[in-house]
Amino acid sequence: MIRLGIIGTSWITAMFIDAAMKTNAYDLTTVYSRSQASGEKFLASLDIDTDNVDVVTTLSDLYQSIDVVYIASPNALHFEQAKVAIQSGVHVIVEKPSFSNPTEFEKIESLLAKHPDVRLFEAARHVHQPNFKAIQETVAKMAQLQGATLVYQKYSSRYDAYLAGQEPNVLTREFSAGALYDLGVYPIYAALAVYGTPNAVQYLPRLLRNGADGSGVANLFYDNFNVTVIFGKTSNSYLPSEFYGLKDTISVSNIAELEKVTYYDGEGNSNHLGDVPEENPMIRESQDFANIINDPTTNHAEYSQWFQLAKQVNQTLFDLRQSAGIEFPADIKE
Ligand SMILES: NC(=O)c1ccc[n+]([C@@H]2O[C@H](COP(=O)([O-])OP(=O)(O)OC[C@H]3O[C@@H](n4cnc5c(N)ncnc54)[C@H](OP(=O)(O)O)[C@@H]3O)[C@@H](O)[C@H]2O)c1
Repeated sequence: MIRLGIIGTSWITAMFIDAAMKTNAYDLTTVYSRSQASGEKFLASLDIDTDNVDVVTTLSDLYQSIDVVYIASPNALHFEQAKVAIQSGVHVIVEKPSFSNPTEFEKIESLLAKHPDVRLFEAARHVHQPNFKAIQETVAKMAQLQGATLVYQKYSSRYDAYLAGQEPNVLTREFSAGALYDLGVYPIYAALAVYGTPNAVQYLPRLLRNGADGSGVANLFYDNFNVTVIFGKTSNSYLPSEFYGLKDTISVSNIAELEKVTYYDGEGNSNHLGDVPEENPMIRESQDFANIINDPTTNHAEYSQWFQLAKQVNQTLFDLRQSAGIEFPADIKE
């Protein structure tokens, strides 16, 4: 069993723990929280046997007792927490978006080179789903690619707090957040996983009063087509995403959740691709990560592919930000 520790005590961590337990590959051993009380409250909220789980409030206590850490703290904290994990010989599963900028990513890559037994995964859950693989395989068979329109726009419960005058982490540049890094990352990941790295990018954001982006439209330019990406945290969209062939189209109900994927041929006839996803969308990624941790040699090619994709996504998010003049404090710390 892989000894699992977690950082971050919000709902996404509870969902990851549920997924990890369902794979039967992990054993939750340690919860890290900034406060003992909130760590214990989180533990008590879990629907599993937690008799042997410790709550700790320092990273050194966390990293001495686990094989892998799942990091779901605000984005700007990922770098330091992952860095210390790698230095401690602990594998890292870091929530999307992994790091604030390419400088941080490159530092992590150099550190991993010095700790060759340690693996680092970005938890981009949708690209591990069978329905996403169905999209990749179908696009690969399309006669002539004509690009895509990808949409992920969801009203954030934290936007209520912002409208009431507060500064929730996920809508601030201080925490390397905003619409692009929080939600745009899903369609950007999808575009790069399907088409590779674009030649050039451009981002037109709608900024909030604090300079973070609340919504926006990004364009990714490839040799023979463009991908348009629409995302935001200040309203709800029910538009599907689409991948275009010359006459045929793949329509996806939601590019992050992938509940329904439909292929339309040139005559408009449709058929469903893939399957109904599991209720917990993090099971596939946690199983994939466990496979690598348990057998790093056999599965090295797949690991390298995910790592390179994470690196390209990190660079693309940064390039998009640069094109819109959005700076994070983490960029200045470089
Ligand atoms: N894959 C997905 O579907 C998905 C969904 C949601 C979020 N995420 C990702 O998960 C990560 C966390 O997002 P979130 O919305 O849960 O963040 P959040 O609520 O702002 O913070 C998550 C946890 O980090 C700790 N924390 C909060 N503020 C902090 C601060 N100022 N300094 C240090 N620690 C702090 C808290 O744990 P303690 O109080 O216990 O220390 C909190 O429970 C992000 O990277 C996000 O992109 C992924």
